[in-house]
Order: sequence, then structure tokens, then C-alpha cells
Amino acid sequence: MRIMVIGGGGREHAIIKKLRQSPKVDIIYALPGNGGIVKDAVCVDISAKDIAAIVDFAKKNSIDFAVVAPDDPLVLGCIDELEKTGIPCFGPNKDAAIIEGSKVFSKNLMKKYGIPTASYEVFADMTEALAYLDTAPVPTVVKADGLALGKGVIIAQTREEAKAAVRSMMEDRVFGESGLQVVIEEYLEGPEVSVLSFTDGKTVVPMVSSMDHKRTHDNDEGLNTGGMGTVAPNPYYTDEIAAECMKKIFVPTINAMNAEGRTFRGCLYFGLMLTKGGPKVIEYNCRFGDPETQVVLPLLESDLVDIMLATRNGTLSETDVKFSSGYACCVIMASQGYPEKYEKGYEILLPAQKPEDTEIYFAGAKLENGKLLTNGGRVLGVTAKSGDFKTAIDKAYEAVKLVGFGNAFYRKDIGQRALKAFKKEE
Ligand code: AMP
Ligand code: GLY
Repeated sequence: MRIMVIGGGGREHAIIKKLRQSPKVDIIYALPGNGGIVKDAVCVDISAKDIAAIVDFAKKNSIDFAVVAPDDPLVLGCIDELEKTGIPCFGPNKDAAIIEGSKVFSKNLMKKYGIPTASYEVFADMTEALAYLDTAPVPTVVKADGLALGKGVIIAQTREEAKAAVRSMMEDRVFGESGLQVVIEEYLEGPEVSVLSFTDGKTVVPMVSSMDHKRTHDNDEGLNTGGMGTVAPNPYYTDEIAAECMKKIFVPTINAMNAEGRTFRGCLYFGLMLTKGGPKVIEYNCRFGDPETQVVLPLLESDLVDIMLATRNGTLSETDVKFSSGYACCVIMASQGYPEKYEKGYEILLPAQKPEDTEIYFAGAKLENGKLLTNGGRVLGVTAKSGDFKTAIDKAYEAVKLVGFGNAFYRKDIGQRALKAFKKEE
């Protein structure tokens, strides 16, 4: 098969590496991919948002199957355009991708179908939002309705902070149209769990759970980022909680989308908070998480091509989706200054031989005159696997030490909280 993967980050690299293990694959194109992916896929310089160019490329290159990984093209309707030309795809169409594309949509969906989530109010008028905040309990959470490069959520400790967030979204339009409406919601507390799932719109198959580390610095200090590291599975996500989530969240969400005439096919990501009142949905994503994918897919033992085809053909209930019982840890190596200002263009030095059970997934990397250079905030992720959780963490950090580039930084505590939680369980 000739497969095309849209996107160019660490998540896409992890997807490509897993697809390559399938005997069905002849060639994989990455649009645009990046300089660190070239050994695993043919990278083509087409932006993930240039849907016309993507469709044109797919037709000219006899693509048999397309995997659309990032949120932007999904929300823009990339799947719809590809399928119009008869190319089968992995990912939700535009009508279903709205579950991530509009927080107002997803909150109203959960309310309508009784899916547990933080209580909330929606505002399209700034004066009303500000008046509401005069009496709202704090901390409170302000969210821009639309996509905002992962920056559209403000946890406000005070009413003034919340008001400043509303003004920046609704008056200054820092996120453009995404801030036309805002959601102001209840602040929830508890361990967070990411559960990615495969679905064909009938069956939902959760993947192994994972834990993201969103802040830049150790002990969850510093700015929010796209994710500085992940581990899988997540120790807080017990079998009992998983069963509860299946019954109260996963199946009801799939059914709700069907009832709305927005059948979801692809990867549905449940961002959950395990509160004292039970698991609640913090957010839905219409795609694989980054860097969750970099720990989840390495633990997948089944053929990813078969699974992806099944989500499209409606045969997921008959398809093997098996995960190993092991553990994985991914440490993101970033450029000093990320997620704000950082320098690019430093050479990335890699070990001549990759240590056993480790993998490097490239994100912000480019190839120039035969040299691999840094080209982004999150440069790469180092994932290690093991049958023992602590060993997975130690192996990931040992491999990190073998990678070097100018202005590199990474968190030293990825997995430590999970390790303590696993120990408590024993
Ligand atoms: P997002 O940008 O949607 O991934 O959200 C960023 C982070 O904000 C989440 O991972 C949570 O840690 C936090 N968050 C979002 N909503 C809430 C909430 N209602 N209560 C507490 N924390 C939240
Ligand atoms: N790591 C969180 C996300 O992909 O949205």
C-alpha cells in the first residue's frame, strides 16, 4: 500500500514508525514530515494546512490510504476533501472534528447527553462574561471556543486574571476567530489521564492510558506547553475507573455523535480528570495526542494499518487491538526558551547506535547540507520501553544523555509522580 501521513511532528513520526512495521506497507509519504523523519518516510514539502495541495498530491501519487494526524487539517475538512476523490482515510470528517474544533460544541454535547464534565457557561458577549466573573467562584477556567495552538485555556486564580483572559480573547482577539465565544468553567481537581481510543463510530477501543507532563519545568512549574513528556500506562487509571469511563463517557460520546449525525471515525482522545466525584471530561481531541502517541503506539502489538482500515470500514469489533503489558516513557528535548522565544539551527548529535528498546521521534528538526539541525521548540522525544516502569524511565534518560544540541533542555522528573503512584498501589 501507498500511504500518506499528514503532519510533521513527533506524533507523526511515531505513527509512521508503527505503520512501517506492517507488511502491507510499500511506501509512506509524510506531508510535510521533517528532517528527522526522512529515514522512515518520503518527506514532501506540502503544509498540513494546504488541503488543495494535499489532495492534488494524493491523486498524482496513487495514494491508497491517508492518515491525517493534526487538528488543523481535520477541523478544516481535509478528510472530506480526500474522500470526495475516493481516497480512504483515517480521521474524522469536518462535522465530527468539531468535537475538538469548538469547545462550545463539545460542552453542549456533554450537557445534552449527560456526559460528566465541569459545569460551565458560554459567552458570546464580553460585557456579560465580565459581569458573570464578578461573582464566579475562583479559581476558574477560561477557554477560547476554537483552536488556539494549545494556548486557549487559562486557569485563573483570581477574578482579575479571569477578566484579563476574557478581554485578551474577546477584545484583543489574541486567538482570532477562536475567541469569538468563550467558555467559563468550574475548576476541577484530581489526577489527569489521557485516553486515546480507536473508533469506527460503532465500537470504541481505548488504547493504553497515558500521563502527559504539560509544564515546562520539574514539579509541574513553569509555562504550559504542548507536552514535555509522557508515560504509559497511567497508574491512576485503574481497571475499575476504566470500566466506569467506558460506560459513562466513551460509549455515550460515540452514541451522542451518532445521534447528532456526526459519526466520529478515527482516534478520539479523551482528556480526563479523576475527581472525587468521578471521572470527568476536561477536553476531547479529534486526533492522537502529542506526545502521548510516542508512548502509546510503541506499546501497540497489533498491525496499525489493519486497525486504521477497520475504523474506516466499520470492522473494528473484529480487529485485533492488542497492547503489551509493558511500560513506556517519553522525554521531550526542547530548545531553551520554549514555548516562547527560542533559537533554531543547532546541530543535533545522535548516538551511533540507538540503545536497545529506545526510539527517537523527531519534531522540530530539519536537514541542511547533510546535517540535522534544530528547527522548533520541541525538537525530539526519546522513548524507552521496559517490562518494569522504573527501568523504562531510567532507560529513556540514559538515551537522552546520548543526544546533544545547542540550548537543549528537558524535564528531569518525567514519570516520577507516576512511579510513586505505582509504588503506593503495590
Ligand atoms: P488544554 O489546552 O485544553 O489541553 O488544557 C490545558 C490544561 O488545562 C489541561 O490539561 C488541564 O490541566 C487544565 N484544565 C482544563 N480545564 C480545566 C478545568 N476545568 N479544571 C482544571 N484544570 C483544567
Ligand atoms: N498532549 C496533549 C495534546 O496532544 O493535546
